[in-house]
Amino acid sequence: MDQRELDIVRRAFAKQVMAAAGADHAGVEAGFAAVRREDFLESGPWRVLRWGRGYVPTPSGDPVYLLTDDVVAILPEKHINNGQPSLHAWLMASAAPSAGEHVVHIGAGVGYYTAILAHAVGPAGRVTAIEFDAGLAERATANLAALPQARVIQGDGSVVPFDPADVIYVNAGATRPADRWLDGLREGGRLILPLTTNQGFIAGRSVSPAQLGFDRRGAVFLIERRGADWLAKWLSPVAIFPCEGMRDAASEAALAAAFEKGGWRDVTRLYRGNDAPAENCWLSAPGWSLAYR
Ligand SMILES: C[S@@+](CC[C@H](N)C(=O)[O-])C[C@H]1O[C@@H](n2cnc3c(N)ncnc32)[C@H](O)[C@@H]1O
Repeated sequence: MDQRELDIVRRAFAKQVMAAAGADHAGVEAGFAAVRREDFLESGPWRVLRWGRGYVPTPSGDPVYLLTDDVVAILPEKHINNGQPSLHAWLMASAAPSAGEHVVHIGAGVGYYTAILAHAVGPAGRVTAIEFDAGLAERATANLAALPQARVIQGDGSVVPFDPADVIYVNAGATRPADRWLDGLREGGRLILPLTTNQGFIAGRSVSPAQLGFDRRGAVFLIERRGADWLAKWLSPVAIFPCEGMRDAASEAALAAAFEKGGWRDVTRLYRGNDAPAENCWLSAPGWSLAYR
């Protein structure tokens, strides 16, 4: 397909991923319509993840094969992938980035979703992308060079300093919220937080999420800073690559126990510390809890 045709298909793709996600956010949709996924991945054919079959090559290197709701390999040997567009559409729309805001993107990979976030905040906004893997951070830096509102830092996003953020968009599985993320949110700021058990990502497994029973293995929560309160809302089940530096045994055990008992959709609050009464908690771990009220 030529570029003019691809531009049209990309606009349809943007509408379809937003509809598949049940998401409504003009800036995120405009980002999906504008950003060329092929510019962020190496030249095709690309390897897409097919449940039950593992990575399967696209029929050719025509970028139209990237304008689908598929997970695409970035570093297949490490099981690092460019995530599913409709999942990101839902999570980014739920974070509600608006023009002029500062977004911190942790686990940016090669920067495709960073670029979409940069479109959502516009030229008056900023996106700080943090990627742990040095080679990927280098690729993201090159891929994002044309977007002055985006910059890439190579490092551990659970400790790297960053300016106060309106949105922190975490794309790797933690067992708990990092103090750096909660402290780094402005008043009214939103954190997209994937929490996963040790079963939340099984490298090389290509069975479907439903077969994995993955709604009991990981979940993404929206955390919102409101004065002294931290509002929490369940957004989605998730199976995702682990977050370096953010996995501890005590929180992992508490998460696994909480998933076993169910009830994650009713969570409304995050507490720092252990002040929430036990009967109000979905999850209680050393130093933090997620509770129903
Ligand atoms: C599931 S991949 C997602 C990549 C990208 N968001 C995408 O969909 O194209 C997770 C990424 O998080 C990175 N990562 C893991 N722990 C990290 C940390 N503590 N700080 C920054 N990046 C991290 C990994 O290197 C990997 O590139």
